This record gives sequence, structure tokens and C-alpha cells, in this order.
Amino acid sequence: MKGSDHRGVLSSSATNLEGLVSGVAGKSSIAVAKIFKGNSVKMPIEVIEKTTTNGAQYPASLRHLAIIMDGNGRWAQARGKSRIYGHRAGAVAAKKILNYALDIGIPYLTLFAFSSENWRRPKHEVDGLMRLLEEYLDDNRESFLAGKRVRFNVFGDKEGLPKSLGEKLAEIEQASQNNVGLDLGLALNYGGRAEILRAAKKLIGKCLAGEETLENIGECQLANQLDTARFPDPDLLLRTGGEKRISNFMLWQSAYTEIAFTDCPWPDFDEKKLEEILVKFSTRVRRFGASPEAEKEQIRA
Ligand code: FPP
Repeated sequence: MKGSDHRGVLSSSATNLEGLVSGVAGKSSIAVAKIFKGNSVKMPIEVIEKTTTNGAQYPASLRHLAIIMDGNGRWAQARGKSRIYGHRAGAVAAKKILNYALDIGIPYLTLFAFSSENWRRPKHEVDGLMRLLEEYLDDNRESFLAGKRVRFNVFGDKEGLPKSLGEKLAEIEQASQNNVGLDLGLALNYGGRAEILRAAKKLIGKCLAGEETLENIGECQLANQLDTARFPDPDLLLRTGGEKRISNFMLWQSAYTEIAFTDCPWPDFDEKKLEEILVKFSTRVRRFGASPEAEKEQIRA
């Protein structure tokens, strides 16, 4: 089950608990504060925490952090520079945050790098972004692969990307498949609605081919056809740059995701700012649709 290890009550089997505890083995993570195990299979888990490199604590239930890296263009324009200059600075910030996520043991990180609607931007900006992404892969390929800590996953419609970029992405996805440490999702030519539509069409195709039946199709079957099938749903979705909208990102996956907005433009975003957001996240109570009363009932069970 996706997203089962949330803060509050884990109403599932001991296997899930083991998974949760073993998933806490990040480089500088200090695990497990309080675990109460009752006699029944319902186990209230108060807090299982990880520690950032500065010593701040955040819940280990934060497995998937998804980021809308917004504000590059305005950041650059405020400095009298081109928008591409801002995207370049954004790529530096992306690397910083990726390394930080690795260091503090976040297992899944998704970065929204280009939406299916971003083609509407001026050609020179789109071309510049595509070149920048290729350069990013060229420059970092060896260190990503040699370190064996980052597994690449590309979300979105790869067909629509420039051929050479698509080939580089496919190659690095393939070459990093056995890496362990952090799963990186790069959302490129990605749109949440288009992704759901692709998934629905795949299921219809399976039905028509006699490999699936309408009666058998539930949320799991659809989620398994999404680009993000390997990832748990995001626990925290962060948007930098001051806008307060989701912009067609992870529409299916973010049903119960906590959302954080910061005015900080992406190129200025750094480890310290992420740490502050993680600490705030740790105060949120996630009920996944249950009421506080239902939560107490479960704790008593
Ligand atoms: C939104 O800012 C950002 C983008 C459309 C591109 C994001 C790309 C990067 C950060 C660089 C490449 C990333 C990686 C992972 C290598 P915006 O241009 O819409 O900013 P604005 O709202 O200020 O105009």
C-alpha cells in the first residue's frame, strides 16, 4: 500500500513497521524515537524521526518530497539577466537540494523541471532549457553513476522531448537502475492530467486485449499505470517563488499531500530553507480523511 507509514497511527501489519524502521537508514539519520506496539495489529506510532545535518528533526514518514522549482525567471529579471540565467542558477540549486536530500536520508525526491504547458514559452527559452537539461546530465552523469546513490526516473511524455535529450535520459535511467540511496524523479514534459489520461488509456488497452477486466480496476490498478508507479505518493509538495497553485503537477498523487509554499525564488532556495520547511512539516497532523476521534479509537484498539 502506498503512503501507509504516516505519522499518527499505522493500522497495518508488523511488516509495514519493519519497512518503516529499516527505511530510516539514511547517511546522517538518527532513527526511532517512540514506538508503541499494542497487542492488536494496530500500532500507534508517535514519532519516528530523522535528523538533518544541522541536528533538526523531521518525521521519517516524509518519504517523498516533490518540488515545483518556481521563480527562476523573475529572479533573473530582477538582476537584469536573461531567464535562462535564472534556470542555470536553478540547476545549481537543484543539485544542492538533491545532495542535501541524500545526506539527510529522504528516499524519494521529485523535481518538476518542465511542464507539458511550458512549450508555450518563447522558443529561445524552451531551447535554452532543453540544452541546460542535457548539459546537466552530461556534467553530472559520472558523479551520479559512480556514487551509485541516485536512481533516475523520468516522469512525463518522453516522446515529445528533443531526441538527444530523450536518449540521454533513457540511458541514465537504465544505467542507474540498481543504485540505492535516493530515487530521483525528474518531471519533464510532464502534466498531471496527461499522465492520468495515459494511464487510463493503458488500462483500456489491457481490457481490450483481455489482460484486465473492468470489475478488477481500482485505484491501485490506475496508480500502477502512472509514470510515478514506483514512488509512494508525495508526503510534502513544495512550491517556491511565491505562487500558490499546483500547476497540473501530481494531480492524482497529491490527494493527501501536505503543501508548502515559500516566496523564496528557486535559485535562492538552499539547505537551510528546506530544513525550516521540514521542521514545519513535522508539526502537521496527517489523518488521511479520518477524524481525530477515529484516530483515538485506533490508538485504543
Ligand atoms: C519555473 O520558473 C521553472 C522552470 C519552468 C524550469 C525549472 C528548471 C530548472 C530549475 C533547471 C533545470 C533543472 C534541473 C533539475 C537540472 P519560471 O521560469 O516559471 O519562473 P518565473 O515564475 O519567475 O517566471
